[in-house]
Amino acid sequence: MTTAAEKERVGLAAAGLVEAGMTVGLGTGSTAAFFVAGVAARGVKARFVPTSEATAAMAREHGMEVIGLDVAARIHLTVDGVDEVDPALNAIKGGGGALMREKIVASLSDTVVYIGDSSKPVNRLGAFPLPVEVSPFAAPAILRRLSDMGAAPMLRHHDGRRFVSDEGHWIIDAAFGEIEDPGELDVMLNMIPGVVAHGLFVDIIDRMLIADSTGVRTLERPA
Ligand code: 5RP
Repeated sequence: MTTAAEKERVGLAAAGLVEAGMTVGLGTGSTAAFFVAGVAARGVKARFVPTSEATAAMAREHGMEVIGLDVAARIHLTVDGVDEVDPALNAIKGGGGALMREKIVASLSDTVVYIGDSSKPVNRLGAFPLPVEVSPFAAPAILRRLSDMGAAPMLRHHDGRRFVSDEGHWIIDAAFGEIEDPGELDVMLNMIPGVVAHGLFVDIIDRMLIADSTGVRTLERPA
C-alpha cells in the first residue's frame, strides 16, 4: 500500500468522527486534506475552524461552513496530521508551516485526534527537524541560540524564497537529532523571546489514528 493510500485510509476513518452540530478544527497537510474531503463527502452539517489559509480555501471549495475564533466559542474536535509521533503521543508538527494556528486550535479543542500513515510513529522524536516559528526581527539571534542548544538550524525556504507563515512569521527548521526530553525542550523554546510557536506538541494529542496496509489502529495518550 502506498503512503498516499494510507493517508487516505486514515483521513476517511477520522471523517467518521464528525457529527452534526459539531464545531471541528481542520488540520493542514496532505493527510488532513483527505480528512477534509471525507467530511465534505459525508455532508455532515457542522462548522469548521481551519488551521491555515490553504485548508480554509479547500474547505470553502467543498462548500463547508468556515468560521473563525470570533464565532467559535467551543471546538468539539480537531483532526490534524503529524510529522512524527512518539509512544507518549508527543509529536513534531509544522512540516506544512501551519504549526502556530495548529497549536492554537488544538489548545481550544475538547478532543484532539491526530492522524498519520505508518511512517509517522517513532520511538524518539527528532529525526524530523523541529519547526520553530519566529519573529523575522529575532531570527538571526534565534538561529545562534538554537545552534548553542545543539541543533542545526536553517531558515525555511520554499520555491527559492523565504517561507512566510500565514501569521507573517519566518520558520527555522532545527535539526536536534533524538530529543531526549520533549517536555523540557518545549519549556526551553517557549522561553526564547521572539519564538512565537514551535512544532513540539507535548501533552496535546488525545488520540492518534495510524493507518497501515492492514487497517487503522488507535493509540490513546497514556495516563
Ligand atoms: C502542517 C503539519 C502537517 O500536519 C504535517 O506536516 C503532516 O503533513 P502530511 O499530512 O502532509 O504528511 O503539521 O503544519
